[in-house]
Amino acid sequence: MEKKIVELFAGVGGFRIGFEEANPDWETVFASQWEPGKKNQFAFNCYKEHFENKGGVTKFSNCDISTVPTSEIPDCTVLVGGFPCQDYSVASTGAQGIAGKKGVLWWEIERILKDKEPAFILLENVDRLLKSPSKQRGRDFGVILACLNNLGYSVEWRVINAAEYGFVQRRKRIFIFAFKNTTKYHQAIAKKDISRIAYFDGIFAKRF
Ligand SMILES: C[S@@+](CC[C@H](N)C(=O)[O-])C[C@H]1O[C@@H](n2cnc3c(N)ncnc32)[C@H](O)[C@@H]1O
Repeated sequence: MEKKIVELFAGVGGFRIGFEEANPDWETVFASQWEPGKKNQFAFNCYKEHFENKGGVTKFSNCDISTVPTSEIPDCTVLVGGFPCQDYSVASTGAQGIAGKKGVLWWEIERILKDKEPAFILLENVDRLLKSPSKQRGRDFGVILACLNNLGYSVEWRVINAAEYGFVQRRKRIFIFAFKNTTKYHQAIAKKDISRIAYFDGIFAKRF
């Protein structure tokens, strides 16, 4: 398996650091990070400073992802991204979920998935995504699951609290792992009983 990552909504590169630390063979072939409406692109500058020499930073890396043609995004094995959470977050009054200004960025992920068809996807957001929007609880996560299903992916997800992994902050985040129904991982897992996947064999079942 090729070890190539595309990192969307890259921030300062948290996903990239995790993958590279897990196995230095992982190569980030494209990163996208753009802070809307800000002249100073602090996060991108930080990303560039750390990673420019290691690849993935192109002339399209510091652009609004909605303006980046998929032809400028290389093929990858895993697409990762912590997509903007303000529209799902309790901290945001009047959060509109997947229909909000930032929530709509989900559709950019969908656009890229349709074209690039990565075998695996790993996404992160606030745990409140599961209950968004407040007037139609659960709708947005349902839309995301349906999109992934339509594109031929199966999905595992879990809310993970950083405080349970040695960090000093109580930080609950939902991690969504999706895999193409054509992958060996799918073949292996599809044979198993659903409760076995959730409790023992799924990617989030193991506690380290
Ligand atoms: C939740 S943060 C991701 C943090 C990241 N995982 C990290 O390790 O730093 C979402 C990021 O998406 C970026 N962003 C927001 N809108 C964007 C857009 N239209 N195009 C590209 N990046 C965008 C934000 O600037 C923010 O850094």
